[in-house]
Amino acid sequence: MILFKKEYQLQNYLTSLKSDKKSIGFVPTMGALHDGHLSLIRKAKEENDCVVCSIFVNPTQFNNATDLEKYPRTAAKDIELLTSVGTDVLLMPPVEEVYPKGLDTTLELDFGELANVMEGEFRPGHFDGMAQVVNRLVNMVQPHSLYMGQKDFQQITIVRSMLTQLESKIKLVMCPIKREENGLAMSSRNVRLTPENRNLAVKISQTLTTAKKLVDKKTPKEVKEWAMQELGIPEFKPEYFEIVDGISLQSIDDFSETNFAVACTAVWAGEVRLIDNMVLKS
Ligand code: PAJ
Repeated sequence: MILFKKEYQLQNYLTSLKSDKKSIGFVPTMGALHDGHLSLIRKAKEENDCVVCSIFVNPTQFNNATDLEKYPRTAAKDIELLTSVGTDVLLMPPVEEVYPKGLDTTLELDFGELANVMEGEFRPGHFDGMAQVVNRLVNMVQPHSLYMGQKDFQQITIVRSMLTQLESKIKLVMCPIKREENGLAMSSRNVRLTPENRNLAVKISQTLTTAKKLVDKKTPKEVKEWAMQELGIPEFKPEYFEIVDGISLQSIDDFSETNFAVACTAVWAGEVRLIDNMVLKS
């Protein structure tokens, strides 16, 4: 694996590959890697000649300074993991390389209601920062395909809208959620859970799984109320549990309204905010 910190070095390397008609797959991350991230790399390896992964903890998408400061940083272990799955290139740019003085990286795109609901409501500005960095990183790498996880369902929906609005030719590939054996969705934030809350956090995926079984028996409103109650144990603070149309991300009143319904939730488990989702109907 080759490590680049500078854009021009990366581009020198990739330009020669591209002129040899090699396909480039790109997996952007914020590091603290786990098997969920590695599943994206594996998928990109299957489908491309060269896989580029980036590790960059993007300050513009954190709306909470403590969250940014406490975001786990495990570079040495990340490098080992990326090497073990055959990653070809690692881009680890410093902040001034991603946001150099004099380069306007702001995006003047309108995500409409996609960015106002759920994460958008509870993390104002988060998606603007996320789209800004994904666009900047994609411009640095200029891949043929971009691999992102269903784990962040709203994020990938917004990236899809961004690519459409920019008339990009990049293929966006959505990879399934990797879970621990007990069902907990893998997340870089899981390492910050207390052992007790880590055990309790299994309740999130269990609630989503049960919600899926309730589709033929209850209305979305009833399922949502039941789930919020289920997640409202003393150790947790559920922020939202929404049942939305998987394309528009707007809440549905009846399951017959759509053939693609997704349940999305965010829960504070102690000091740690966890998100998860499940397709209820597709
Ligand atoms: P990060 O949280 O590091 O996630 C990087 C990618 O890994 C995202 O596409 C995310 O959906 C995917 N991912 C995380 N956990 C996963 C799991 N359990 N199973 C499958 N895929 C999983 O998401 C970000 O970083 C940032 O917002 C980023 C897009 C890099 C922009 O800064």
